[in-house]
Amino acid sequence: AEVGAGELVVAAGRDGHGVAAFNVITLEHGEAVVTAAEQADRPVILQVSENAVKYHDGWLTPLTQALRALATAADVPVALHLDHVEDAGLLERAPAAGYRSVMVDAGSLPYDENVAETARRAEYLHAHGVFVEAELGYVGGKATQVTSAHAPGVRTDPAQAAEYVRATGVDALAVAVGSSHAMTERTADLDHALISGIRDAVDVPLVLHGSSGVPDESLRAAIRAGIVKVNIGTALNVAFTAAVRSSLAGYDGVDPRTYLRAARTEMTGTARALIDLVTAP
Ligand code: G3H
Ligand code: ZN
Repeated sequence: AEVGAGELVVAAGRDGHGVAAFNVITLEHGEAVVTAAEQADRPVILQVSENAVKYHDGWLTPLTQALRALATAADVPVALHLDHVEDAGLLERAPAAGYRSVMVDAGSLPYDENVAETARRAEYLHAHGVFVEAELGYVGGKATQVTSAHAPGVRTDPAQAAEYVRATGVDALAVAVGSSHAMTERTADLDHALISGIRDAVDVPLVLHGSSGVPDESLRAAIRAGIVKVNIGTALNVAFTAAVRSSLAGYDGVDPRTYLRAARTEMTGTARALIDLVTAP
């Protein structure tokens, strides 16, 4: 059944485990993640990023409604979340499209402007009953976001994080603690002591972006230190693309189902392993 992402995140934080949030680009991603969540018998979040909306030529509602139909049909709780929203027009469309959880991404702005812009956008979203995530510190690696107030490698400061949450009113905080977006190898070096420090200073659930690059043991330790929402995108795409490559080798036919089915099967396995890890760290 469809539930709110905010409810899942708050419940996971209260119960001391994580919740996996997967970035969905194609319908096959969504089917794979929901199948994995049903196999694991755990809740999951399907998230659509602004970049995925751009990939779909700006179409927001068709993919969203397909994912909502999957969520509704699922026999585990499934939530939808709109991820990395920089565009004000997209933000305004989010509540009507049915998103009850949105990440406001003002990470490219200097601190004071980030606070002002995020507070303004959070107020709009809260007025529509939307759970709001925002980011302080810069999780690098997004190809589309090359400018930032923070140099790559800069970490979230616990005291500033507390002030930021107070000043913006956001419901969840994405932190820069050593992960980076779009890593295809799991070599990120997380600062677990910093995660604990931020958790102790901040009273909202913490979100880890760029989790594809984090090794299993480090991800477990991050959840024990206070990470609740674990954002995963690239790991699914690594599985998808490897499966397409190998199924196209030696296949001369034209039926996309041949290689998309292989891609979906691989993504299901990847998602299952990560859901198990995150929900029982
Ligand atoms: O918001 C999305 C995530 O941060 C995904 O990052 O593609 O590096 O796993 P990733
Ligand atoms: Zn991210």
